[in-house]
Amino acid sequence: MISTLLSPRYAIADFPKNFLWGAATAAHQVEGGNTQNDWYHWENSGGARDHSGLACDFWHRYSSDFDLARDLNMNAFRLSVEWSRIEPRPGEFDISVIETYRQILITARSKGLQTMVTLHHFTTPEWLASSGGWLSPAAIVRFKSFTDRVVLELGSEVDYWNTINEANVVALMGFVVGVSPPGLQDIKLGMRAYSNLIEAHAAAYRSIHAVFPNARVGIAHHMRVFEPARKNNIMDRTLARWVGNFWNKQFLEAIVTGEINLHIGPLFRVRKKVDGLKGSLDFLGINYYSRDKIRFKADEKVFFKIDTVPTGTPQNDLGWEIYPQGLVRVVNSVKKYGWPIYITENGAADRDDVVRPKFICDHLMALESSIESGADVRGYFHWSLSDNFEWSLGFAPRFGLYAMNYETQERTLRPSGQLYGEIARAGSARAVCGRSN
Ligand code: GAL
Repeated sequence: MISTLLSPRYAIADFPKNFLWGAATAAHQVEGGNTQNDWYHWENSGGARDHSGLACDFWHRYSSDFDLARDLNMNAFRLSVEWSRIEPRPGEFDISVIETYRQILITARSKGLQTMVTLHHFTTPEWLASSGGWLSPAAIVRFKSFTDRVVLELGSEVDYWNTINEANVVALMGFVVGVSPPGLQDIKLGMRAYSNLIEAHAAAYRSIHAVFPNARVGIAHHMRVFEPARKNNIMDRTLARWVGNFWNKQFLEAIVTGEINLHIGPLFRVRKKVDGLKGSLDFLGINYYSRDKIRFKADEKVFFKIDTVPTGTPQNDLGWEIYPQGLVRVVNSVKKYGWPIYITENGAADRDDVVRPKFICDHLMALESSIESGADVRGYFHWSLSDNFEWSLGFAPRFGLYAMNYETQERTLRPSGQLYGEIARAGSARAVCGRSN
C-alpha cells in the first residue's frame, strides 16, 4: 500500500516538531482482570453485551503493546490507572498494583513513549459506587485522596495527566440514558453527577500541582458538533445551540470562571462556585468522534432526539457519522481559551478497515489545516492501539489500529495502522495521504 519509501519531498513536516503521536487506551478496556469496579458489576448484571474478562491482557502484555506502538512511530501513549485496583478498599492501597503501574510507565518511557495518564476513565470502585458514587460529594474527597497517592507514587513517571475522561459522557450515559452504571435515567441526577465530577477535577488538579508545580494537567473532554436537523426550524436551531453550549462549553467556562453553571437553555440548572476550580487546566484534551443533528420533539424528556445518520452518508460500523471538518470546528471553538490542545481520542469502529484509512487521513489533514490557521495543537492520540472492550457494546466494535483475536490474544496490524505509522514518521498527513485538504 502507501508504504512506498518516503522520498525526501515527504520531509516537509506539517505538524510541529515535538508533536505527540500516540494511541489512547483505558484500563478497564484493555487490562483484563478488573473485578472491583462498578463496570464489572454492571457486566455481571447483564448491562453489557460481554464480560470484559481478560480484555487485551494489557496487564501482562504492556511491554509488547508498547513495541507495537513504537512500530507505528508513536512517541506517546495514553493509558489510565484503575482506581479500584489501586485502592480496592477505602483508604487501602495495593502496593503490588502500584508497582505494576510503575513498571508500565517506566517501560513506556524506556521505549521512547511519553506517558499521558488518566486518573478516572469511566470506572469507579464498587465500594464507592455502592455508597452513592458520583451523586455524593464524598466521591470528590475520595478521588482527591486517591489522586494524592497516585501522584506521590507514580508522579515522576508521568508526562501528562488527564484528571477525568469525558465527565459529560459519564453523567449522560450513567445517569440520564442509563446504559452505564449506575443505570439511572434522571437528568437532574445527571447534572449533579456532572457537577461533582467537575469539582473532582479541580481537586485532582490542585493535588497534582501541590507536588509537581510544573505538571501538565488536563481533561479529556468529549466534544461534538451539534446542528439543527432542519436548518430553518427555530426549535431545532435553539435546541442545537443549547445542547452544544451544555455539552461542549460549560465545563470549560467553569474552569475559566471558577463557577459551575450547568444548564440546557433555561432548564435543569445547577450552579456552584468551587474553590480551586478557576484556572485549573494546563492543556485541553479533546475527544472528537462525530456530529449530531438535533430534532425538536415535544414528547421527549429533553425535547429533542438525535437523527439517525442516513444511508449514503459516511459512517462507521456503529452508525456514527464521519465528519472530519468537525475536528476543525471544535478546535477552532476553543482557540479563544488559549490552552494548548491535544486530541486525546479520535477513531472509528471499523471491523474491516474500510473507512479507517480515509478517516485517519481526513482527520489529520483537517488538523493540519487548523494548525496552519493558528491553533496550538500539540498531539494526537488515536483511539485505539488495538480493538478492545467497548463498554456496553462489549467486544463487537473494532476501534483498533491492530485487530484483536481475543481467543489467542494475537494482534494483527490493519492497513490503517500502517498508514498512521507512516504519517507519524513523516510528520505530515498531507504528504502521505497524497492530496491537499
Ligand atoms: C470514548 C471513550 C473511550 C472509547 C471511545 C470509543 O467516549 O472515552 O473509552 O470507548 O469513546 O467509543
